[in-house]
Amino acid sequence: MGLGAMALDPFSRLAGFSGIGLSATSVFPPGQDDGRMAWWREARFGMFLHWGLYSILAGEWEGKTNYGEWIRNNAHIPLAAYDGVVQRFNPTMFDADAWVGMAKDAGMKYVTLTSKHHDGFCLFDNELTPFCIRSTPFQRDVCREMADACRRAGLHPCWYHSIMDWHHPDYLPRRDWEAATRPVDGANYERYVRYLRGSVEQLLRNYGEIGAMWFDGQWEHTWTHQMGRDLYRYCRQLQPSVIVNNRVDGWSATQITDPQGDFRTPEQEVPATGWPGVDWESCITMNRNWGYNAHDHDFKSVEQLIGLLVETASKGGNLLLNVGPKADGTFPEESVDRLAAMGRWMRVNGDAIHGTTASLFADAPFRSTTKGTRIHLFLTDWPAGPLKLTGLRSVPRTASLMADPDRHPAVTTDGSGDQSLTLTGPAPDPVCSVVVLDFDRPPEVGA
Ligand code: GLC
Repeated sequence: MGLGAMALDPFSRLAGFSGIGLSATSVFPPGQDDGRMAWWREARFGMFLHWGLYSILAGEWEGKTNYGEWIRNNAHIPLAAYDGVVQRFNPTMFDADAWVGMAKDAGMKYVTLTSKHHDGFCLFDNELTPFCIRSTPFQRDVCREMADACRRAGLHPCWYHSIMDWHHPDYLPRRDWEAATRPVDGANYERYVRYLRGSVEQLLRNYGEIGAMWFDGQWEHTWTHQMGRDLYRYCRQLQPSVIVNNRVDGWSATQITDPQGDFRTPEQEVPATGWPGVDWESCITMNRNWGYNAHDHDFKSVEQLIGLLVETASKGGNLLLNVGPKADGTFPEESVDRLAAMGRWMRVNGDAIHGTTASLFADAPFRSTTKGTRIHLFLTDWPAGPLKLTGLRSVPRTASLMADPDRHPAVTTDGSGDQSLTLTGPAPDPVCSVVVLDFDRPPEVGA
């Protein structure tokens, strides 16, 4: 099976599942600062972590088992009942170094953790609300431990922070289903925005250098474009080097000419073609849910996950691959296994992912990335006959296998000037083998 088919498969299985039908891809980032974006572009691969009170409920409420991190909203859990879950948050097995270690071993360079999801619960010791880690039996500041562990391991800590909040008394609008039990009397959205800013201030002042702020839940009408603009600026003021995703931006009645954010965030998809000149990151789940669901064992295969990583890199984007840790503080076994398998592949082939740019080939039966004077070809099918490198204008100095630099596939040129690669011997990797083409100068590929 080729990478194209492999990469499409997860999406056909996932179609229509997501909590909401949001595809936040409409915003075009403004001119980014190359220096600030450099580490992120180099990274290409990060870990998304959805962890909170919903992880304790594990996707189940009153006999139904298809919930995730949206459980309070989708199962209509009354606020008081959800508040009760705070007392059950005691993940005694949580070990930030172990989590970050698994990310690092998988070849990931950053970790984006839910400092607060839509339910409003904060995984950090938020001085502005008791609805946070401080009120749990656990008490330890998860964000602090994760930020410190990331830095020890050389990874960038990043915060996912929801703008929408189903808990704060000043947040508006209320969910329709709880309008009667949670009246809006006295609610003041401006005060909520001050709370949000105060939370962001703590996240960007108290935890050292943060790689990215990843906002979400920005789609309700109360969050305006102007508010998004202000929040973007506020983040940059607090940490000039922080990068901010496009979901910081709010709605506007008029056409937005100054969309906010440094990178786009396609969700559960890899865009059909990349977006040249635009930074983007596809966020994708390993199974069907972002938050832990004990009943969801519908995990993508290692082949599919490696395929997604190769696909995003070859289109010039990043992959933010999700793990939904369990209530005890451990990762689901399926996630642990898949991360380890991706790590085995990345230890051999990671150089063809990290620090690369998009494929130069417009239309080829293989995926590819570029790095300076090098082209990497990703081969899922080990061709029996010569593989045409249609459009390649430069002649490689050498061709080799990334897994075995002493093996040199032959490159030949036919009468019409097309070059071909002849691969002998067995494929070095059962999932995806990488061929390296080295040139004397940056290679050229035409139509
Ligand atoms: C959606 C969902 C949310 C999830 C996010 C990840 O916006 O609302 O639950 O965290 O996607 O991209």
